[in-house]
Amino acid sequence: STPSLLILPGDGIGPEVMDEVTKVIDWYGAKRDLPFDVSTDLVGGCAYDKHGTPLHDDTMAKAQEVDAVLLGAVGGPKYDDLDFSVKPERGLLRLRKEMDLFANLRPAQCFDALADFSSLKREVVAGLDIMIVRELTSGIYFGEPRGIFEENGERVGINTQRYTTSEIDRVARAAFELARRRSGKVCSMEKANVMESGILWREVVTKVHAESYADVELSHMYADAGAMQLCRNPKQFDVIVTDNLFGDILSDAAAMLTGSLGMLPSASLGAPMANGRPKALYEPVHGSAPDIAGQGKANPIACILSFAMALRYSFDQGDEATRLESAVEAVLAGGARTPDLMGPEGGTPLTTAQMGDAIIKALDAS
Ligand code: NAI
Ligand code: MG
Repeated sequence: STPSLLILPGDGIGPEVMDEVTKVIDWYGAKRDLPFDVSTDLVGGCAYDKHGTPLHDDTMAKAQEVDAVLLGAVGGPKYDDLDFSVKPERGLLRLRKEMDLFANLRPAQCFDALADFSSLKREVVAGLDIMIVRELTSGIYFGEPRGIFEENGERVGINTQRYTTSEIDRVARAAFELARRRSGKVCSMEKANVMESGILWREVVTKVHAESYADVELSHMYADAGAMQLCRNPKQFDVIVTDNLFGDILSDAAAMLTGSLGMLPSASLGAPMANGRPKALYEPVHGSAPDIAGQGKANPIACILSFAMALRYSFDQGDEATRLESAVEAVLAGGARTPDLMGPEGGTPLTTAQMGDAIIKALDAS
């Protein structure tokens, strides 16, 4: 049957970049005989405006049923003073939580045409293609006890890092499965030297590897050393798997190896559904960018590359995902730039829609 896709454009530049993704989706239906059953709904501030909640129950139910969800971005100054319980990001958090999306995939890929944008030297990053797998639903951001307490006459802020074997097991498996589709290498990062959760993490990853993934090359690294190595020689890595806190920091650092926020896609995956596909949410890393919203300045590539990830991880269309990524690469190599990708040398930037059209043209030529 036709694969189903729920599109949630959201707020700010979300709808602008999603318009360009829609062109790409339509192209696959028309030119590659790969149609999608697309429905569109509200999330974030626009959902609050209409329903008084950032994610309506009907939208949540739809998200649970479809093969994949594609989200733009949520939030904006208009909603900054709302009560925490109805803030736009609560819509996104609810999706992640109720779909139980425990594995967050953040690729850091450096297109040759943009290597000079990196904060590192061109030779260190050109051709970089790594994937950070961050555990997303447990760890120190969720562990109990947490809170600010009174103790011995002063206040103490407490968070608890907590991981169970099954939580580590499932994210490790996700990383090993990914490595099999890539160059067959996983580096697991924790701090087993100073943290109990790190000791358990290393133990479980090692066991999963020995039992089910001996064909994949596994190494371990302390997360602080990993941060150093990511900046010194990032190309030594392929898949990195790590916990929620370290993954948050390491993936943001890795992102800056590659240049603009407007280029970074992500995927969040959960357990397999009845049809064997994982529960999945795809979204650009960037937010709603209120400073440029409504001006045709947004770079649609992060969102388009998020759809490429959907092709690969939800729809088993790895070749078509590569086709789309190559089209993006060709357009950049040809000099096409949205304002965020303009160097000091200047030039005439493309609008959001012009960048989308250029990518469609490159797809036509592929
Ligand atoms: P942001 O990612 O929206 O913007 C940061 C900077 O990067 C801005 O200067 C923006 O213009 C630029 N930028 C972002 N995406 C771009 C693109 N595609 N093309 C060109 N330039 C781009 O982060 P910020 O400013 O911290 O947050 C703005 C709003 O977005 C807030 O309401 C925040 O809560 C929300 N947000 C939502 C996220 C999501 O929906 N997943 C993630 C991060 C922030
Ligand atoms: Mg972060």
